[in-house]
Amino acid sequence: MRTKIVAGNWKMNKTLSEAQALTTQVLGLCSAEVSAPVKVILCVPYPYLPVLTPQVKHSKVDIGAQNCSEHDAGAYTGEVSAAMLKSMNVPYVILGHSERRQYFHETGKLLAAKVDRALAHQLIPIFCCGESLDIREKGTHESLVRQQVEEALFHLSAEVISKIVVAYEPVWAIGTGKTATTQQAQDMHAVIRKQLVGKYGDAVAQAIPILYGGSVKPDNAKELFSCPDVDGGLVGGASLKARDFVDIVKCA
Ligand code: PGA
Repeated sequence: MRTKIVAGNWKMNKTLSEAQALTTQVLGLCSAEVSAPVKVILCVPYPYLPVLTPQVKHSKVDIGAQNCSEHDAGAYTGEVSAAMLKSMNVPYVILGHSERRQYFHETGKLLAAKVDRALAHQLIPIFCCGESLDIREKGTHESLVRQQVEEALFHLSAEVISKIVVAYEPVWAIGTGKTATTQQAQDMHAVIRKQLVGKYGDAVAQAIPILYGGSVKPDNAKELFSCPDVDGGLVGGASLKARDFVDIVKCA
């Protein structure tokens, strides 16, 4: 039985005081209302990591980053390394989000290097994959997603890939209000699970959480999370409101 995970992806939103207030609200609602053994993660902008990580200590909530460098250290102005995240006790990092792929030209090869840096510093990558609308309309979404998973993850050993969280996020459903149907989500999650079984065997593949992301809201989360291969969600817009986010957590 895989533990459900609900991760918020705040993207580039909130000032520091707003971020602290939102975290306080999420912590309060989670401790009052969430009794199920769900893992809750807030992936926040870099500057807030050393502030919010101590704030969530001794709570059910963990903090994550939204990216890290493929390099360990050096002359890379503006970048943040996995070692820096680790030094701030950050346990999770999103890698390969479609916005990074699209706006920052992140490729499978680059993401494989980022995954390695994160794992070398004991961070848990939340590795994102997912197709754009034109790929979905062409009907090549399954092979595209399989390729994304293979390029970034299949150099890992069975022992190491067991530490990863995968997030399937169809790009056409991100921030658009257009959610994949439960059938579309389950079908793609099953494709990814089958691919993992083929490469790593059943025991390893069954233990890897696969989250769904793309316009997850309180009113669709229950149905999505009830799919057999959907192990929770990566939530963007709805994670910016404590009430909505915790209502989604309660669906897990
Ligand atoms: P959304 O974003 O929930 O706003 O669609 C999801 C994501 O980008 O991770």
